[in-house]
Amino acid sequence: MDKSNLSNTVANLPFSQACENNKDAILAVLQKELKDSTHVFEIGSGTGQHSVYFASQLPHLKWQTSDVVANHATINAWHDAYPAPNLYQPLAFDLAHNLLPVNTVVKMPYDAIFTANTLHIISWSLVEKLFELVSEVLPLHGKLIVYGPFNENSRYTSESNRQFDTMLRQGNSGSGIRNKEDVIDLATQHDLTLSATHRMPANNQLLVFRKTAPTP
Ligand SMILES: C[S@@+](CC[C@H](N)C(=O)[O-])C[C@H]1O[C@@H](n2cnc3c(N)ncnc32)[C@H](O)[C@@H]1O
Repeated sequence: MDKSNLSNTVANLPFSQACENNKDAILAVLQKELKDSTHVFEIGSGTGQHSVYFASQLPHLKWQTSDVVANHATINAWHDAYPAPNLYQPLAFDLAHNLLPVNTVVKMPYDAIFTANTLHIISWSLVEKLFELVSEVLPLHGKLIVYGPFNENSRYTSESNRQFDTMLRQGNSGSGIRNKEDVIDLATQHDLTLSATHRMPANNQLLVFRKTAPTP
């Protein structure tokens, strides 16, 4: 989607060039990883650009967006501009305050949770909360898909990630690129087992976790 081709309504709204750049690479993985899934809950839908694209390209899925309320107007505007029958208006979901909205979990039993570019924005304590909540909601074999930059063995995987991390930490002391091994350990504590690591363009990764039975 080139911004110059967008309708005036959307052209005046917040726009993420990163989303436009990464959406096809992410879609190619989601087409495989979510081929047997039915209901996706997206955490931190941002502008809503990913959701309109993924819902339209993955019509077998119901795609439920969510974010802090401040982002809802933008997400709704993107949904209005690019409606899809399987795309659902954002739910108010702030990891700092909410449980995953219980009513919707009952109505729509999510078998997949997707989140892009959130773990390095939220504090580590909220990353811990995210994995705890996701584990409560996902059924056995359900998938958590996390996209973004990660460090490996506490080392940056690129100079651009090092610069990005410095910028993140200067902006907010709780933000920062996470160490992949710490995320995998955290997931394991919540019965979420790493099932795939996809190397993505621009030094990003897409991690897939599967809900497994609790270890006795
Ligand atoms: C860098 S943006 C990523 C947006 C989008 N997923 C993307 O890839 O462009 C980070 C997202 O995390 C969301 N976020 C930040 N703090 C949050 C919180 N406490 N609970 C839920 N979402 C949060 C922001 O509102 C924003 O949508």
